[in-house]
Amino acid sequence: MMQMPDGLPAEIDLSRPSAARVYDYFLGGAHNFEIDRQLAEQIASMTPNLAATMRAGREFLRRAVRVLLDAGIDQFLDIGSGIPTVGNVHEVAQAANPEARVVYVDIDPVAVAHSRELLAGNDHAIAIHADLREPKLILDQARASGLIDFDRPVGILLAGVVHFIPDTDRPGDLLATLRAAAAPGSYLVISHSTFEDQPQEMLDAQRLSARTATEITLRSRAEISDFFGDWTILEPGVVHMPLWRPDSPSEVDDHPERFGAFGGVARYDQPAG
Ligand SMILES: C[S@@+](CC[C@H](N)C(=O)[O-])C[C@H]1O[C@@H](n2cnc3c(N)ncnc32)[C@H](O)[C@@H]1O
Repeated sequence: MMQMPDGLPAEIDLSRPSAARVYDYFLGGAHNFEIDRQLAEQIASMTPNLAATMRAGREFLRRAVRVLLDAGIDQFLDIGSGIPTVGNVHEVAQAANPEARVVYVDIDPVAVAHSRELLAGNDHAIAIHADLREPKLILDQARASGLIDFDRPVGILLAGVVHFIPDTDRPGDLLATLRAAAAPGSYLVISHSTFEDQPQEMLDAQRLSARTATEITLRSRAEISDFFGDWTILEPGVVHMPLWRPDSPSEVDDHPERFGAFGGVARYDQPAG
């Protein structure tokens, strides 16, 4: 029987690496265990720029959240939010608008436990333990929290999470359920790993993800674009993450494709008539 570190829920599986904790390690966080660090180091030795990839993912999310805030979005549903490390959505959002509300959702109990710790005392943000494969439960819990009003525009954030959903779990249907709950003027933010433009060692490293509780499914730009349904995809489209509205042209990497993921943002425009 493995000894549980203080304050962590008993259902945590410490016998297998967790995607959230491996991710936390790459971002320089403290919420990970030896088994996670071992896998992280193995992946890192195969793809030296993976930690940079994860930071590029966070940077994309931060830029997208700012665009949503500028458009007046003040409530966010962040699914697959991960372990809170640097530059969390509620920090970015509440710095711009102290009244902004954020509901974090993650399948990993460690991520949820640490999120709750971090959010203690914040009346405008909570973390719930739920599965993207059960979107109706997520919507019910977000509604019940009183923090999200689905009659008003909402920002739905799916950063680095849809690639954990295999085709057999019908990710297109899950996304359609989430979109159907949103009011006109809502936004959807997605970043998603891809095989397009990738060298072989990146593809090999992705295969190692099978050792975490959830395996990654790499998808094409066209497949990822389809997740936005009939919503209007904002400029510059679904692009390699660093190319999505960089803060300055000098910040764009010489090889933006090396981060292995596409990012995009779409808006639900009221159908004419
Ligand atoms: C790569 S991290 C991304 C974290 C954060 N969204 C970001 O972009 O910085 C992916 C997260 O998705 C979570 N996840 C994986 N499958 C999930 C599912 N079916 N439902 C909810 N969360 C899931 C993992 O636990 C992990 O915390």
